[in-house]
Amino acid sequence: MEKETKIGVFDSGIGGITVLKEIIRILPNENYIYFSDSLYNPYGDKSPQKIIHRCEEITQFLIKENCKAIVIACNTASATAVQYLRKKYKNMLFIAIEPAYKMVYDYAYEKPTLVMATKGTIRSEKFNLLFQKYNNHKTYLHACIGLADIIEKGDKEKIQKYLKKEIGIFKGKVNNVVLGCTHYPLIETQIREVLGKDITFFNGAARLAIHLKDELEARDLLENKEGKVEFLDSQNLPEKEKRFWELLKIEEGKKYEIIK
Ligand code: DGL
Repeated sequence: MEKETKIGVFDSGIGGITVLKEIIRILPNENYIYFSDSLYNPYGDKSPQKIIHRCEEITQFLIKENCKAIVIACNTASATAVQYLRKKYKNMLFIAIEPAYKMVYDYAYEKPTLVMATKGTIRSEKFNLLFQKYNNHKTYLHACIGLADIIEKGDKEKIQKYLKKEIGIFKGKVNNVVLGCTHYPLIETQIREVLGKDITFFNGAARLAIHLKDELEARDLLENKEGKVEFLDSQNLPEKEKRFWELLKIEEGKKYEIIK
């Protein structure tokens, strides 16, 4: 029997679920393996060398798992490692998330903008090229050091305190917020509480999903059977797995249907 192919999706933790959800919405017939790298979490303040090395280990693992495509559902890992990975693993299709700053350029250029991302993303060459290309000259870049880690741990009070302290100063100053880390869409409500209800969020996950579909279609690699989702955490932490299924809103082993 032919071994089933999968789409590998990885992040330093649960943030990439915000990307996986969008992918499943438009590609419900694929098999997915989600890799949460809690052992190396957070990526945001690690050196580029460490991030590249770890992303390569995960890539090799996902290749062994028979993945036909790998989605880097982490802005930090994408910004740091995707060029290296594409060059070295030429036969693999890598789809990488990036802060949705071009969307601001396309749809809300006039408005003052806050880009929230990890230190790793903000300092990366890849993000800086994007920023220079689409700069609306009304943009604040803010490295939210430690925020992904607090979201990962799920401590609501800490998240609230952090946001007040770190981004409260932008209240009344910005209309657009680019969620440049895949963990941040999980706290949209709390960000709105601090910055005001008129904020428009920009998140690249939906566009990434369309891009993935187009690339698979072009290679004639789309599945048409019922798909399933597998979860793996690099420390096998049961609480990560529990949160994963809760956030994805499906029961383990069941066909995904209620992704809204
Ligand atoms: N979710 C990740 C991102 O999009 C990384 C968070 C972290 O590990 O620092 O950047």
